[in-house]
Amino acid sequence: MGKNWEEIAEKIIKKERAVVERNKGKIPYTAKNHVFDDRSDKKDICWWTNGFYGGTLWQLYNATKEELFKDCAIELENKMDACFMDYNGMDHDAGFRWLPTAVANYRLFQGKESKNRALLAAANLSGRFNLNGNFIRAWNDWGDDRDTTGWAIIDCMMNLPLLYWASEELGDPRFKAIAVAHADTAMKNFIREDGSVRHIVGFDPATGEFDRDYGGQGYSEGSSWTRGQTWALYGFTLSYIHTGDKKYLETAIKVADRFAERIPENGLIPVDFDQPKEPYYIDSTAAAIASCGFITLAKVLEDPEVCKSGNATCRMNNSEATMLSEKYMAAAEKMLSALDEIDCDYDPSHDELLTRCSASYHDKEHEFPIIYGDYYYIEAIWKLTGRELFIW
Ligand code: GLY
Repeated sequence: MGKNWEEIAEKIIKKERAVVERNKGKIPYTAKNHVFDDRSDKKDICWWTNGFYGGTLWQLYNATKEELFKDCAIELENKMDACFMDYNGMDHDAGFRWLPTAVANYRLFQGKESKNRALLAAANLSGRFNLNGNFIRAWNDWGDDRDTTGWAIIDCMMNLPLLYWASEELGDPRFKAIAVAHADTAMKNFIREDGSVRHIVGFDPATGEFDRDYGGQGYSEGSSWTRGQTWALYGFTLSYIHTGDKKYLETAIKVADRFAERIPENGLIPVDFDQPKEPYYIDSTAAAIASCGFITLAKVLEDPEVCKSGNATCRMNNSEATMLSEKYMAAAEKMLSALDEIDCDYDPSHDELLTRCSASYHDKEHEFPIIYGDYYYIEAIWKLTGRELFIW
């Protein structure tokens, strides 16, 4: 018998009411001994994951219309204004910060303040575009001997929807043009022939020439950091949704096929598909994000128009699109079932949902709660149960 996703959604809501009530005012990244930490003070206010708890609150509000979730989401969004005063804190992750906060709020209530925040964030993100190489620069300098001026990362595909949103909102094509130029560069330089994906690519910032790739948060150069695969899978699907350009759909399918064939039997996703047997670490954020990407892609492929739309010749007929859609939905359900059964803590007295998330293969710490794992798990369950607020 199939999973009862409705029951899981209700279980999440019941737990989150208690979690949000006792964590008012916090911006969590992780939980220690089942208690959320707080990144809302000045030194941490620009941390790249700070938007995800806001997104969780808006998804919960959208599902329940309960004021507690809305009030906490607005408080968090207001606190994040401090980040606009820190040039170095503002980086490529403007989308992760302000899509699940200001844009989510704006989609629901059309408030001027939220719109203003999201447009400032989009303008700052656009300012990171390197015209020589057609990419959005990733981080700022880290104050060590690494020169990151010419670095771009696959994660940034998930920030592009902030630019698509700004162009749609203003009727001004500049933002979208930057998003498309970056997506084209990522398609050419990050996606390998077999559908696996690089994490970091360094370009010469003055000429735009490809320099080299880096293993980044994965196991090594040439390996397949799973969260990076998911940013590509979901990110190219979103670029297709926002542009209608078939080359992004084809890229998403290429990445999705490679990911799908590497999902382990037990449905739990490792930090890197190419990591050794020992030490073998799980990253449940990758399972949750991939599930969102697979479900979104499956829904795109259910639309009969998908075989007609776009500016490239479609190589699929409707029955092939249906087969792919079913395959992707099955992949998502397999991973979400594994998370639900093996890796999800529904105890209302514990703050975290997912317990085995990993930021990076070579970090000292692995398999602990991370807020974006919880966010994307909820988003995926909401997608399956018709509760989702579209954020990206
Ligand atoms: N965007 C950084 C990460 O996925 O860890």
